[in-house]
Amino acid sequence: MVGKTALITGVTGQDGSYLADLLLEKGYQVHGLVRSGSRASSAWLEETKATSAKLGRVFQLHTGDIGDWQGLDRLFRELRPDEVYNLAAQSQVGETFKSPIASVEVDGTGVLRLLECIRLNKLETRFYQASSAELFGKVRESPQNETTPFHPCSPYAVAKLYAFWIVKHYREGYGMHAGNGILFNHESPRRGENFVTRKITLSLARIRTGLQETLRLGNIDARRDWGHAADFVEMMWLMLQQPTGDDYVTATGESHTVREFIEAASAFAGFEIVWEGKGLEEVGRDRKSGKVVIEIDPQFYRPSEAAFLLGDPAKAKARLGWEPKVKFVDLVRMMMEADLARISPKT
Ligand code: NAP
Ligand code: GDD
Repeated sequence: MVGKTALITGVTGQDGSYLADLLLEKGYQVHGLVRSGSRASSAWLEETKATSAKLGRVFQLHTGDIGDWQGLDRLFRELRPDEVYNLAAQSQVGETFKSPIASVEVDGTGVLRLLECIRLNKLETRFYQASSAELFGKVRESPQNETTPFHPCSPYAVAKLYAFWIVKHYREGYGMHAGNGILFNHESPRRGENFVTRKITLSLARIRTGLQETLRLGNIDARRDWGHAADFVEMMWLMLQQPTGDDYVTATGESHTVREFIEAASAFAGFEIVWEGKGLEEVGRDRKSGKVVIEIDPQFYRPSEAAFLLGDPAKAKARLGWEPKVKFVDLVRMMMEADLARISPKT
């Protein structure tokens, strides 16, 4: 029996790699959209290719860009996918303050191009949109659920807000099976190196082995609800298996500060951080060696910021039976151990 056909945009990213693995295991033929010159040779994509060969399943990469409507249209007509998972984005929130116009073309109107490919070609394709907790921004209530008002506070979040509503509109207006996963932060050893969790674990591993002096960060008192990417892609798949499309918060229900992440990761790396000073003068010193490990650097502050994200995943649990398996401390340990293993000792 030939499995369903899925198209993943953003397949070279963290989530794309976990989702491709999951769908291949479930018997799908998996197609991935890859920008020319992207990270298509990343180690985990090679692993996914090996998995697909072992399982005898299709895993095919197609060069394209969600800014290019004609190219997308050709691909949709060729594949006629049963399911599309739109994970492509400029997903680094800080970067979207620097290139807001380029970001909206991908994070906002890019989504509309994909929806139009489905509508104009009269396809029965089910559509998943990677939406974001950043929509809540300057939060009006905690925890945040599907009825919490949005107040986006970055170019990224404003673009994702357009995407959220256009997906909802295509569902309500055209009866399309389309839904938004309102994703809270999720991480893994495959996380991009500029996101704060991975920056912390990679830097601590490098400091441990003498390859780096200190770790420089911005706002370490921001709170995030951090889960594991493998749990979150399971929820993406579950959403498209329901009779109709809908929007779901995907979160752990537990929130920690960046500072707490640093402390936990440091402990796994063999440091014991004590904090000294305030504001830009604050440092984190290793109690045993006396060495300054953490410094504050204003270049990593953003013009505005979601200070406190905490998701309420009750709807996902009640309707889809989804519950995240990996807890905060296990996530930190997993990421720290992976980076310590990656960075070989200097001597
Ligand atoms: P990621 O690792 O940054 O991956 C983003 C992917 O998008 C990469 O494969 C990137 O390709 C691709 N991409 C960027 N611009 C593109 C374009 N113009 N055309 C086609 N592909 C393009 O992000 P992630 O963590 O896997 O997140 C996946 C999705 O979930 C994103 O939409 C993100 O905004 C959303 N999200 C993530 C989180 C989270 O905590 N991880 C939370 C909420 C929402 P290259 O390899 O070429 O760069
Ligand atoms: N990246 C980064 N680098 N963030 C820092 C730093 C630093 O040096 N220092 C402090 N932070 C703070 C940020 O200001 C933010 O409050 C927090 O650490 C998390 O930053 P990121 O890891 O960059 O993630 P994010 O929360 O901005 O965005 C991620 O989660 C969103 C969902 O809530 C991304 O995955 C987005 O794509 C996603 O939508």
